[in-house]
Amino acid sequence: MSGWTLGIETTAHTLSFGLVNPDGEPFPAASDTLRPDEGGIHPREAADHHKDVAAGLYQKVLDMHGLQPTDLGAVAYSQGPGLGPCLRVGASIARGIATRLNVPLIGVNHCVAHIEIGRQQCGCDDPVLLYVSGGNTQVIARLNGRYRVLGETLDIGIGNMLDKFARQQGIPFPGGPKIESLAKAYLERCPEPSMEGLELPYAVRGMDLAFSGLLTAAQRLVDNGQPLDAVCWSLQEHAFASCVEVAERAMAHTGKRELLLGGGVACNERMRSMSTMMAEDRDGSSHAPPKMYCIDNGTMIALLGALELANRTTSLEGSAIDQYLRTDQTPIQWA
Ligand code: ATP
Ligand code: FE2
Repeated sequence: MSGWTLGIETTAHTLSFGLVNPDGEPFPAASDTLRPDEGGIHPREAADHHKDVAAGLYQKVLDMHGLQPTDLGAVAYSQGPGLGPCLRVGASIARGIATRLNVPLIGVNHCVAHIEIGRQQCGCDDPVLLYVSGGNTQVIARLNGRYRVLGETLDIGIGNMLDKFARQQGIPFPGGPKIESLAKAYLERCPEPSMEGLELPYAVRGMDLAFSGLLTAAQRLVDNGQPLDAVCWSLQEHAFASCVEVAERAMAHTGKRELLLGGGVACNERMRSMSTMMAEDRDGSSHAPPKMYCIDNGTMIALLGALELANRTTSLEGSAIDQYLRTDQTPIQWA
């Protein structure tokens, strides 16, 4: 392959353009995230946001790395899963740039991109993956040429749960980072906390998880007068422990010794430290990429696109988006 690969990410709130160089090395992305003043994400509003900022961001990522459009040798985009209107904007931009430059187009699986940027950044070989983002919560392992989902949320994603809880307290999107800082503040004022009065349901069902009951119960604690920082701490402890428990079982069943975190919630330091404790207890190791590569970013899309280009490209006819694309639908044809 010659030239740089551009990656375009538009599955949800974030529009992001990222790059990998002709050797497949990643470079930081230019991103812009829609943060609604109130309420949740409206797919059409997010899509309009992406359309409005796309031209400026595309220029920005080229300028950041001193490139011209003619330096691009391929264009990758998130083909799914995600919000239809948002995905369609990304696919249209990708088709336009690839056609104009007469370079290959490649649609990639967003979830698999989260995994591959983590493997590349952390040097993991064959990890169990804990993919914790807004829309997704999955425990994944590679088997027979696919990333198999061993366990996942049965209702909402862990990040959506955190964002919804935050929104109910008047904290704007994204709520996860603010909940993390409130939980830290609680530990500073109460260094030896107890769960008494702060218990929440713990929804591990076999290898699967659930978070909506936790959300309702945490709100009830707030309504009953528990301090918000204490509830944030308890919410994190319960939600993260349930993910780490399923990840541990996955490591035990598969015999794999590496754990790799990905997705926006993997930015959370408590999530990282719980994972490290569990993995080290098992004589294994836990890894997480830098935060800019945990949250949605175009670089991971470029990276997976560059990996896949040796085996396939996407024709214009085959470039339609797939809102419901699953992690295990993508054959792994790269090293
Ligand atoms: P996907 O399509 O993969 O589900 P996404 O659209 O949810 O991705 P991401 O950027 O992967 O996007 O994740 C965003 C989520 O990460 C939000 O729910 C946000 O609250 C959460 N998040 C970000 N930082 C933190 C943090 N420090 N602690 C907890 N959650 C965080
Ligand atoms: Fe994501």
